[in-house]
Amino acid sequence: MIKVGLIGCGFMGAMHANCYNNIKDATVVAVADVRREKAEELAKLSGAEIYATGRELIEKADVDVIDICLPTYLHAEHALLAMDKVKYVFVEKPVTLTLDEGKALIEKAEKTGAQVQVGQVIRFWDEYVELAKIIKSGKLGKVVNANFRRLSPLPTWGWENWLFDIKKSGGAGQDLHVHDIDYVLSQFGEPKQFFSAKSVLGRENDYVSTLMKYDDFVVSVEGTWALPGTYPFTATFRVVFEKGVVENQGGKFLCYTDGGVEEIKIEKVQLEGGVSGGNVSDLGGYYNELVYFCDKAAKGEKVEQATVQDAVASLDFLLRELAYKA
Ligand SMILES: NC(=O)c1ccc[n+]([C@@H]2O[C@H](COP(=O)([O-])OP(=O)(O)OC[C@H]3O[C@@H](n4cnc5c(N)ncnc54)[C@H](O)[C@@H]3O)[C@@H](O)[C@H]2O)c1
Repeated sequence: MIKVGLIGCGFMGAMHANCYNNIKDATVVAVADVRREKAEELAKLSGAEIYATGRELIEKADVDVIDICLPTYLHAEHALLAMDKVKYVFVEKPVTLTLDEGKALIEKAEKTGAQVQVGQVIRFWDEYVELAKIIKSGKLGKVVNANFRRLSPLPTWGWENWLFDIKKSGGAGQDLHVHDIDYVLSQFGEPKQFFSAKSVLGRENDYVSTLMKYDDFVVSVEGTWALPGTYPFTATFRVVFEKGVVENQGGKFLCYTDGGVEEIKIEKVQLEGGVSGGNVSDLGGYYNELVYFCDKAAKGEKVEQATVQDAVASLDFLLRELAYKA
């Protein structure tokens, strides 16, 4: 049984706790949050010990793996400490706030042999996994162009409103848009050229739109959280191939060819029993990524997907994008 130490019991910590609750060979034995009530809520799920801070958990808890769901500006210091304590460390995305911090994590992982996975969850999200298979198979021919969008209402839930402080979260450009950038880089690598623009009105990095130019195709990526609370969270893609179009939009995952329109069916894992006691059947990629992480830890194997190196490469591109000047 993998003993998990979960640091940060806010929005994403709760999501992860629900996932571990559904993973047979893992149990959360320790949780930490500076807000005692948040830690208590998650501790109830598995009878975990409670620690007042992430540092205290790292210092004292008897755990095999550490999962860091802290605000982004706290990732680096905790991940570095965690790598001295355990071999398997999970860090939420974006991996760190700065490139220097990201490089420090890579260096530490190389020195200690720690296996670090980053929550670049789109790599594990069913529809995106299926898309990756279609791209790789070549059955629809080459990619001609593609569009990825992530549109969100304002994330108002953050502890002490940290998400709205650009020095703590990097804004929507870094926090939200990183998902699609990481996925595009995982599929197509670095573009030959890119153009990027951010909106000037509103908070810095609230809206970013980027055009990535490859040898014979282009990819456009758009991300924003500058939308009213009534706007539905939307994550979509449309990939045009030589012989058809694959689109994930409005809850429909379809393949259009000259022969007709076909629904691409995905079998979802049914999960139950969450922090609210309700049905948590759609934990999507969050569940898949943690199943992968726990499996690697149980087998003592290397983490090969969504590695710290992958995540830092994505951060590197993202920061160049956000600094882009025409
Ligand atoms: N993968 C995804 O799709 C996804 C979605 C949302 C958030 N995230 C990422 O997850 C991370 C956490 O975001 P969130 O939305 O859960 O934020 P949050 O504010 O809801 O939760 C953060 C928690 O950390 C606690 N905390 C702060 N300092 C602490 C410390 N020193 N020790 C212990 N606990 C401490 C806070 O009390 C809070 O409960 C961020 O990096 C964010 O970017 C990822």
